[in-house]
Amino acid sequence: MHFLSTAATLLALTSLGNALSSSLQQVTGFNSGPTAAGMYIYVPTNKVSPAPIILAIHYCTGTANAYFSSTLYAQYADTYGYIVIYPNSPSPGGCWDVSSTASLTHNGGGDSETIINMVQYAVEHYGGDSSRVFATGSSSGAMMTNVLAGAYPNVIKAGSVYSGVPDGCFYVAGATAGMQTPAWNSQCADGQLIETAQQWGDLTRSYYPGYTGSRPKMLIWHGTIDTTLYYENLAQTLLQWSNVLGISFTKNNTNTPQSGYTQMVYGDGTELIGYSALNVGHTVPVHETVDLAWFGITGSGGTTTSVPSSSPTSTALPTSSTAGGTIPKWGQW
Ligand SMILES: *[C@@H]1O[C@H](CO)[C@@H](O)[C@H](O)[C@H]1NC(C)=O
Repeated sequence: MHFLSTAATLLALTSLGNALSSSLQQVTGFNSGPTAAGMYIYVPTNKVSPAPIILAIHYCTGTANAYFSSTLYAQYADTYGYIVIYPNSPSPGGCWDVSSTASLTHNGGGDSETIINMVQYAVEHYGGDSSRVFATGSSSGAMMTNVLAGAYPNVIKAGSVYSGVPDGCFYVAGATAGMQTPAWNSQCADGQLIETAQQWGDLTRSYYPGYTGSRPKMLIWHGTIDTTLYYENLAQTLLQWSNVLGISFTKNNTNTPQSGYTQMVYGDGTELIGYSALNVGHTVPVHETVDLAWFGITGSGGTTTSVPSSSPTSTALPTSSTAGGTIPKWGQW
């Protein structure tokens, strides 16, 4: 608990008064690999059948338990009956492998395939719905969300990406699956890897050659003053998904879903939306209710989604200054 920020600690304390129906469990029976990522799961007592599955993927130095504690996906699972899988990174730095060819490629191995195998396990053992699988995560978990959406569009139906980089942006030539420490790519992190929409789209398509099925609908969140994964990564990620989804920018809606955020709508707003968070750094608060609507678990999932200003979902994640001991080089966050 000591590594959580004050805000996250307060949130955890607050949620004590709002007891969960169930608890986070490690799934010891899961050993499919191919990497040693741990599988943790939250199954609410009122699980619906079959139950939608949300993959909630932690940041660097994070853990399954930290992401469980610092977000409200489990609390909302009690209301809506879905399952949450919290994968736990096998790397010493707690980062995900989002840079090896193996992890980037469909059925290529790596942490991405391990996470997809967790989905399969949840379908077989926990009554999960294979047709309603969603991914979300922060920082390194955001990168992994993009990787999963790119390599496994047949599994992932929608994603919500908090402060990440484009799919394939962290590719590091020579990186191999199972490497001890996922490789860092400063050019990408600093927002200096600039490509065209076509180039980014081609990259994503190359990870699953020949695939012609549907692609995930994506929400992309980023803070304008992020100095870990620079703001340019929002624009580059939106270029990528707009190309993959075959849609283009339509309009901006200011102060949506809350003051200071700009909602960047692509197409008709049902497949791709960016959220630019003014003067927010690397820790963009997780907006669980917006995500749930986007996933189709609640509401319309379209551009009308809004968060009441009286109850901001300001779930805070540890910032690099409070987390302690993070080596910036590996701090994908
Ligand atoms: C839409 O909003 C983004 C984020 O504030 C901004 O960078 C972009 O210039 C805006 N586009 C238009 C056409 O207003």
